[in-house]
Amino acid sequence: MRIVFLNPSGQMGGAEVALLDMLASLREAAPELTLELIVSDGGSVATRAAALGVVTTVLPFPASLSRLGDASLAGPNSNGSNRLQLLRQLAFANPGIAGYVSRLRKLLRQRRPDVIHSNGFKMHLLGAMARPRGVPLVWHVHDYVQSRPFMAALLKVFRKRCSLAIVNSNSVGQDLKAVCGDAFPIQTIYNGVDTKVFSPSGERLDLDFLSGLPPAEPGTIRVGLLGTLARWKGHETFLTALSLLAPDIPVRGYVIGDALYQTDGSQTSLAELQDIARRLGISSRVGFTGFVAEPASAMRALDVVVHASTQREPFGLVIVEAMACGRAVVIGEAGGAAELIDVGENALGHTPGDAAQLAERITQLATDPELRARLGAAGRATAEQRFNRTRLAGELAPIYESLRNSGRQSAIKRQRSDVSEQRTVERGQSRENRD
Ligand code: GLC
Repeated sequence: MRIVFLNPSGQMGGAEVALLDMLASLREAAPELTLELIVSDGGSVATRAAALGVVTTVLPFPASLSRLGDASLAGPNSNGSNRLQLLRQLAFANPGIAGYVSRLRKLLRQRRPDVIHSNGFKMHLLGAMARPRGVPLVWHVHDYVQSRPFMAALLKVFRKRCSLAIVNSNSVGQDLKAVCGDAFPIQTIYNGVDTKVFSPSGERLDLDFLSGLPPAEPGTIRVGLLGTLARWKGHETFLTALSLLAPDIPVRGYVIGDALYQTDGSQTSLAELQDIARRLGISSRVGFTGFVAEPASAMRALDVVVHASTQREPFGLVIVEAMACGRAVVIGEAGGAAELIDVGENALGHTPGDAAQLAERITQLATDPELRARLGAAGRATAEQRFNRTRLAGELAPIYESLRNSGRQSAIKRQRSDVSEQRTVERGQSRENRD
């Protein structure tokens, strides 16, 4: 059985990390599956997938399609449901689409997949347009769509071409249901992480050195926020919370990560965050490491990992990675992220965007080593039981199998109806001949 994955970015965002974990899990546990990937640009996603033994083809997006974001998709009438009008808007917004769809269709015909698995909104649509007849398409939805009205309208238009949507949390599933209707088939599959890489033991980065700070005093509690610099990830809330800590609480904060995409207004920059830290008077209390290639080694160097997203988080890989590293975690309790933890058992929560509450949680953890140890151990156990990536293959393989069978059924039905049409035509012709 051949599964072809479609990914609309070559850069490693959360959905790409999830994709590679899925591929790794399938490679290991279901070696009989042939896995192929079509990706829109040659970046680390292509390299890493190829290293896993996944046949990888780069089918580059034309520049106009790469640039196409939700801002340009949120055209006038973006709430309109008229199919033609929407398609016209899309084609108008992006003349490169038709050409890309035909190249993708040709490539898919050559590859002859049994199932197509698309990962990311642009590929959900392009996959729906390019899918060869009868080949089941799975949309793997990692983000909320209702907040993107034009994309939501397009998914609704194309939903009938999708056999099943996999979502990364029940919360994302509910959001998608509101767009595609109650009858739309949706299945939740939580992401998995490599619990051998994300583990309590292993290398630890020198975060002070990376931040250009003098070594912290012995006994300092290290509290960090990891991730790209998207504004909604709450770096400003984190910095504000650090500024609200009592001066005698021995905490040093770390902002770990850098801007991932070209700055487009939805991201902040390290310079901007350093400026905020200066204004808050906490420059000596917070370090900025920049990009780190090995998040697990950064997490192990922390005592507390903070997730501070100010909007509801669809899943929040960093939460599960930090739990797997046995760290004490504080999360922004909303959306899919809230499904991952049991507050007080394996992590703590705060109201997203509430810096004062986050400061309280950090204080609680900084002053209670037993609580940190208890949450860290329980977090590790949760990651092993619920979020180990080995689970993914076991959940995905039966889905592919049943979709392939249903694809075959519909192919047989189509063949039958072609044959019966042919017979009707033949009967009609022989009647004409008699007459
Ligand atoms: C997206 C979501 C994030 C999730 C990731 C993997 O990036 O925004 O919450 O962790 O996909 O599913």
